[in-house]
Amino acid sequence: MPPSGHTLRDYKPQDFPALWELDQQCFVEGIAYSEEELKYFLSHKNGFTIVAERQGAIQGFILVQKELKMRAGHVITIDVHEDARRSGLGTLLMNAAEERLASANYDSVLLEVAVDNAPAIGFYKRHGYSVLKTLPRYYLNSIDGLLMGKKISE
Ligand SMILES: CC(C)(COP(=O)(O)OP(=O)(O)OC[C@H]1O[C@@H](n2cnc3c(N)ncnc32)[C@H](O)[C@@H]1OP(=O)(O)O)[C@@H](O)C(=O)NCCC(=O)NCCS
Repeated sequence: MPPSGHTLRDYKPQDFPALWELDQQCFVEGIAYSEEELKYFLSHKNGFTIVAERQGAIQGFILVQKELKMRAGHVITIDVHEDARRSGLGTLLMNAAEERLASANYDSVLLEVAVDNAPAIGFYKRHGYSVLKTLPRYYLNSIDGLLMGKKISE
């Protein structure tokens, strides 16, 4: 078990209500996924979702889609419960996702983040991601996004 006391496991359909609630808490209306969108990504055959639990409660998850042709993983979202932040849980989830992709011979990881999401941008930079391009009015048709990426193989 990692120092934070969390255990990681794969998503199961019965986790959906907890993940939905967490995503709603993490993002404002319009940026948070709708139930249909979240269900779509969670059940996509080319994706995986790693869930972090402590004492039976889900405290975070990372949802990744595999872009087969590009050999890239695409982080759809990473959500850590407000009370569990800055304790290394996001890092635990990100490392687990990158390790899974690398062991399946994926070369890189891509993700989008809103320009005003300073905590997430700080987190991704800390993990070696760099800005690849700006995505004008990507969120809510008004907030720019950043496409960020990282190589995970030589
Ligand atoms: C982004 C997020 C997943 C980070 O999770 P976390 O568990 O707090 O991350 P960690 O504790 O592993 O942080 C590792 C490092 O990332 C950086 N970091 C994390 N939060 C940060 C913040 N608020 N400001 C600046 N840097 C930050 C720091 O370098 C941190 O190391 P430190 O705590 O030793 O300084 C979390 O803030 C979150 O769920 N936010 C809401 C959802 C979201 O915006 N997700 C991203 C969608 S694009």
